[in-house]
Amino acid sequence: MSYRQMRRAKSEELRAQRTETIAKRKRSCSLFIENIIPVVVIIRPDRIIQFLSRMLSELDSPIKSGNDGNKNTKSFLKSLRICSIIIFALCSMLFALCFFSSDANARVKGKCKDCHTMHYSYEGEGITYGDRQGPFPILTKGGCLGCHAQNTNGVNSIITSGQAKIPQVLHHNENNDLAGGNFYYVADGYNPDYSKGHNVIGVSHQENTPMNIPPAFIKSVFIPGGLGPTDWPVQQQLTCAGTWGCHGNRTVEDPYESVYGAHHTDDSAIDGITVGKSYRFLYGIKGAEHKNWEYLATVNNHNGYKGDIAHNTMDTISYLCGECHAKFHPNQNLGGIKEVGYVYNSIWRRHPADIAFSSVHVGFKNSEYENYVRYRIEAPVAFGQPTGGEEVVDSTSIIMCLSCHRAHASQYPDILRWDYAKMDLRNGTGKGCLACHTKKGEH
Ligand code: HEC
Ligand code: HEC
Ligand code: HEC
Ligand code: HEC
Ligand code: HEC
Repeated sequence: MSYRQMRRAKSEELRAQRTETIAKRKRSCSLFIENIIPVVVIIRPDRIIQFLSRMLSELDSPIKSGNDGNKNTKSFLKSLRICSIIIFALCSMLFALCFFSSDANARVKGKCKDCHTMHYSYEGEGITYGDRQGPFPILTKGGCLGCHAQNTNGVNSIITSGQAKIPQVLHHNENNDLAGGNFYYVADGYNPDYSKGHNVIGVSHQENTPMNIPPAFIKSVFIPGGLGPTDWPVQQQLTCAGTWGCHGNRTVEDPYESVYGAHHTDDSAIDGITVGKSYRFLYGIKGAEHKNWEYLATVNNHNGYKGDIAHNTMDTISYLCGECHAKFHPNQNLGGIKEVGYVYNSIWRRHPADIAFSSVHVGFKNSEYENYVRYRIEAPVAFGQPTGGEEVVDSTSIIMCLSCHRAHASQYPDILRWDYAKMDLRNGTGKGCLACHTKKGEH
């Protein structure tokens, strides 16, 4: 970039920032009005007036006898108290709406041109991100990997383009991986070790048999929106999204069609009803999303993963993994008792997921699990109603696939969060497996 270009870019950035601040002010103002009207409607002003006039008439009524008068004053004071409580509640509601509503929009931000190209042509040449060849579906620049794996040699795990912050799933900085991990460890051209991650089309080649299909696959299992594939063809490589991938609606084969509309959805409430309103566009899965995909996450501000110990829902993060690795999940739709074990007081055949510490078969009290008390980002647990702010781990906390694994790829074989080969009874440091199995290490 020449000095002139740099200056122009800088002044464009400043202008963009100014327009954003103005737009934000306008937005919060209109949100304020939008939100006030329903509140006023719910509270019913006529009722309040009725109540106030009743209070006033009580005040007017003559004092008959000492006793009665006492009663009257008491009820007046009581009404006064109720009244002030209502007024206080109203005020605090308005206050809260004023200040918090403007941050509620969690959809993509910025100018169309930051992300879209109308003809995939600019002054006669194709425009793209990350050297990916287009044109791309839905007129985006670069497609999934063009945006999300923009600079594979770069060190940034979040790249800003205009006002858009784009999370990076493939970059070259070991200490800067986002929650999903980093496809770098399996990416062709970077000395890959295929066992360290999912081998997705465009990142690496397909693995050899038997790892060309998902380990523990079961045909036609229940998934959100319908059934999983009737078979996993041996030549079928993993994709980011759609039937053969993790993101989007997995009953739709085409990756772009499966996430269609998700990026522009307001996902301030994650209810799993649409792809955009599902946890990280994983259709049907719930959870609480850390704003920066766990970049600089802390012990009380992290991703909130959903678990379900009743095993009758399909909305947990471990169920998502189980959709392909079915035999590893105790849900009856998947591996169930036969493959994994009884859910309560069980002797396990495979390591459990989606069970709480409360159901360990020796009982929680005095068990080794009792000593895992403070949330740890390197061995996280799930919750029934996750908020992402949980600092305390207790008997209700839930084991999940992501307690041990990352989702995309990691530095370690089997996409683990730590080096399993180094887990030893002698390293009683509370690392890895020992975060939960606290009494297995020697102290
Ligand atoms: C930060 C990136 C980004 C910006 C800015 C952006 N888009 Fe998109 N848009 C996407 C992506 C990615 C998709 C495709 C995936 C999807 O639908 O979720 C998409 C999909 C769409 C779609 C089809 C799906 C839908 O939601 O209807 C339309 C239409 C669209 N964009 C229009 C626009 C317009 C108009 C603007 C500017 C006002 C804009 N976009 C700005 C990223 C962006
Ligand atoms: C034009 C650039 C662009 C393209 C193309 C694009 N994305 Fe995104 N994506 C973004 C941006 C920007 C965000 C961050 C949105 C936000 O702030 O919540 C995002 C966020 C995401 C997220 C995280 C959502 C969350 O809740 O945090 C997922 C998952 C995702 N994209 C998947 C995909 C998949 C799969 C494709 C291809 C089918 C795709 N993206 C194509 C720009 C893009
Ligand atoms: C859409 C199907 C699908 C989903 C969903 C899925 N996987 Fe996989 N997984 C595969 C396939 C296919 C392979 C084998 C090929 C490869 O490694 O890419 C695999 C391999 C693995 C491996 C072994 C890696 C190796 O190369 O040795 C682990 C560990 C794993 N998955 C964990 C998970 C976890 C954890 C989740 C949930 C976050 C998950 N998977 C979700 C399809 C899936
Ligand atoms: C207690 C930690 C832990 C949990 C929880 C866990 N895994 Fe694993 N997983 C491992 C380890 C360790 C390996 C390495 C091989 C082994 O020891 O079985 C592994 C291996 C795998 C493999 C590769 C298997 C192969 O044939 O190479 C897949 C796939 C996998 N896990 C998926 C899952 C899924 C899906 C879940 C949740 C239902 C899950 N894991 C839960 C620790 C765990
Ligand atoms: C997030 C917490 C957690 C992590 C991390 C974890 N485990 Fe577990 N593990 C459990 C729980 C809970 C059980 C179930 C115990 C029960 O039912 O009594 C269990 C069960 C087991 C069992 C079977 C015990 C039985 O009662 O049948 C073995 C063996 C085991 N884990 C080994 C490991 C190894 C090895 C690792 C590291 C790769 C690991 N665990 C990581 C929580 C964890």
